[in-house]
Amino acid sequence: MSDTKKAKRQPLYSEADRDNMRWFWRLYLRKHAGKLLIVLGLILVQGLVYQQFLAMTESGLRVIFESGAMRELIMVCVVVFVLFTVRGVVSFLAPMITVRISNQAIFEMRRDLVSHLMSLDLAYFERTKSGEIIQRLVTQTQAIGVFVGLAVAGAVRDAVTVVVVSGYLIWKNPILFTAAIVVLPFIIVVMNFVSDRVKQGQGEAEQALGGYMNGIEETVNGMRTVKIASQEEVEKNRLLKGTASLRGLMNRVQITQALVMPSIDLSSAFVYVLVIGGGGYMVLSPSFDMDGAEIITFLLGMVMVFDPARLLAQFFGGLQSNLVLLDRVRALYAEHPSISNRPDAQPSFDTAGDIVLRDVRFSYAPDQPLFDGLSLTFEGGKVSAIVGATGSGKTTILSLLSRLYDVQGGEITFGGTPIRDVQVEALRGAFSVVAQDIVIFNASIWDNIRYVNPDATDADIWQAAENAEIADLIRRRGETPVGPKGAQLSGGQKQRIAIARAFLRDAPILLLDEATSALDQATEARIKSALDRLTRGKTTIVVAHRLSSIADADRIFVLESGQLIESGGHDDLLTQQGLYAQLYRAQKKGYDSQ
Ligand SMILES: Nc1ncnc2c1ncn2[C@@H]1O[C@H](COP(=O)(O)OP(=O)(O)OP(=O)(O)O)[C@@H](O)[C@H]1O
Ligand SMILES: [Mg+2]
Repeated sequence: MSDTKKAKRQPLYSEADRDNMRWFWRLYLRKHAGKLLIVLGLILVQGLVYQQFLAMTESGLRVIFESGAMRELIMVCVVVFVLFTVRGVVSFLAPMITVRISNQAIFEMRRDLVSHLMSLDLAYFERTKSGEIIQRLVTQTQAIGVFVGLAVAGAVRDAVTVVVVSGYLIWKNPILFTAAIVVLPFIIVVMNFVSDRVKQGQGEAEQALGGYMNGIEETVNGMRTVKIASQEEVEKNRLLKGTASLRGLMNRVQITQALVMPSIDLSSAFVYVLVIGGGGYMVLSPSFDMDGAEIITFLLGMVMVFDPARLLAQFFGGLQSNLVLLDRVRALYAEHPSISNRPDAQPSFDTAGDIVLRDVRFSYAPDQPLFDGLSLTFEGGKVSAIVGATGSGKTTILSLLSRLYDVQGGEITFGGTPIRDVQVEALRGAFSVVAQDIVIFNASIWDNIRYVNPDATDADIWQAAENAEIADLIRRRGETPVGPKGAQLSGGQKQRIAIARAFLRDAPILLLDEATSALDQATEARIKSALDRLTRGKTTIVVAHRLSSIADADRIFVLESGQLIESGGHDDLLTQQGLYAQLYRAQKKGYDSQ
């Protein structure tokens, strides 16, 4: 509650808003300054046309009232018509330029946002709702662009009209004009009120919209679970609640914005009465030098000022919403990747050396420490295995090795080189990974495999596919896409695509996280012999629950809640009679009894 009160007292254009506008100008508009100047010129022409129109009207009226010369009247009509044709042409030319500039700005803004997003750490994406990201990249950028392209140009035109026409009116009759603008303070008060409320409402609405988009994404992606759990009703209500809260918020914002029009209409009625009354008095009274033509023209001028003034007021209401959007979009740039290259990072490192974790400390959340001084060595060129209960930290070790997260204490070295001294791309380029959660794109199997090595030849891809036992499926499915997230594939098929990727990538270090867990034993055995050929001479780290599949590893590390409790060869560990021996016996018994 105190927050909203504080927000209300903020100045209309806070320092942050001004800074955001400067930022936008510098990045996306300044380069078009020349064209914008032309637009301004065109707009000035439009303003002058109005002023000329008023002058011509006054003369035209005088002709009618006084001299009655037909020829002059026709002349006036022709000139007025020409003036408006000029204004019409100009009012097409100006948006033609500004629309291009604004669409270019949207394009550049999206391009920059996308490339900034790509640089952010995995951790950012794990804590940010995807709906929010989509919203920034799609609707918010679009809204800002349209606003800049059309609304700002329109507002400048209106402002010029107001200034030029009022200037002319002041020059014609300062007393009457002063009388006419007594309502100005009232309009300003209304505008301030509206702007404040709109800004607040827009902020909440954007948040709600982000939540709604995210809800849609989650529900659509999780449809299998939704259906199996028969939660359609719950999901429907969740989305409905999202749209309902949007309805309320948008009502509030737009109804407040709608206050602008009637308050301006009311003030204009007041002004017209003043001008007709006061002006009429001036015409009738001999002490003023004013005729009927002048007062009619003056009234016409007031009408011409009020319409753009009304639009301007509306514009300032819209400006507040767009400032909120601009702030949202820019906030994304406040996110900095923490995993990036040091200036002196090396482009290569000893990929065949030992991989050493020394006294590594790491936790995903400060209150849940995972590794508190973990030390172990994966020998270069050998096969190491990590086993341990679910949640013990096996996948996390692999993530730390490929620097998806940075250690918070201790260090990781590759052949003696600290991980932070190696360029991130070089580091990750040295890994072939079969991850536990496999990501499949909605493309053909072929393209999914090629993804990890776009330069591979067709022969290489076929070879990788044969090794991973997925070639037959490729022949059967051809170019057919596999559905969003590979929804049309079985678990084992997805896993074989991941294995084919590892074959195709053929990098010096191999990370296999439950790579064959979803395969039947016959397929696993066939793939395993191909994998053995692949891993020969490469540093390989295997994570597996099925202990029979890692029994021939050179060294096995046993992990329990983030701590290394045993390590050694399969036979050593069995004789040690520790956790490994226990797990192995339990699994063996399970198989024997089948
Ligand atoms: N991205 C994440 N953000 C926060 N916590 C995480 C994240 N990933 C894992 N954790 C937590 O860290 C711990 C270790 O997870 P990890 O994935 O390394 O386990 P694991 O040994 O691979 O388990 P499994 O055998 O089930 O794959 C778990 O308690 C898990 O809840
Ligand atoms: Mg895991």
